[in-house]
Amino acid sequence: FNKIGIIGAMAEEIELLHEHVSIASQITKAGITYFEGTLHGKTVIYCKSGVGKVNAAVCTQILLDLGADCVLFTGVAGAVDPQLNIGDIVVSTSCIQHDMDCSPLGFARGTIPFHPKSEFVADERLVELASSASNRLFPGRSLQGVVLSGDQFIASRDTVKLLHETLHGACAEMEGASVAQVCDMNETPFVIIRSMSDKADGSAHVNFSEFTVTASNHSYQIIDDIVKHI
Ligand code: ADE
Repeated sequence: FNKIGIIGAMAEEIELLHEHVSIASQITKAGITYFEGTLHGKTVIYCKSGVGKVNAAVCTQILLDLGADCVLFTGVAGAVDPQLNIGDIVVSTSCIQHDMDCSPLGFARGTIPFHPKSEFVADERLVELASSASNRLFPGRSLQGVVLSGDQFIASRDTVKLLHETLHGACAEMEGASVAQVCDMNETPFVIIRSMSDKADGSAHVNFSEFTVTASNHSYQIIDDIVKHI
């Protein structure tokens, strides 16, 4: 890859990138600042997307227009797979928008009507790099799975059950599938890496704020390791 695109969902994570990347230039478009520089001798361009699918889609398209030829996205998520505990890591095999729902028209939940596909498959090599980074740094605490995205903070056991049973999700968050769709439309490889901040149940909001700092640290370490080995 000639220019590695990195999107962080959290400010804390961007701070850590600021500390380690030697920045050569920066540009602001649509209210998002993109920083370009070098990390481990490789050219990277990184930014903070903001929350939700629209922010993530705009951010990703601009990142690609600025020359990124792959995208690594990190942040926190709510665990959907019952095997997962807070602090564990999910590396995306694919992504689906769980809030895309045209079922009254006969489309299955998650299906984008009249679009060539609705499940966006992550790049095999990036998945492998992210998984080996996670396994090395946090042994026994990561798995590969389907990342579900929607413009909703999930905080109900019933919804978790539905997402796990109908869409076979490993975790739920608010940006990954939108990044994935934009990358797919531009034929650009991507991977989504998420640290579990909560179990998307009734206590989700409490765990979420407690865990953000640790999660940002974990995400940064994984990104750093991927860039080193890419
Ligand atoms: N990000 C972190 N936790 C989440 C949750 N429970 N639902 C959606 N996005 C999240």
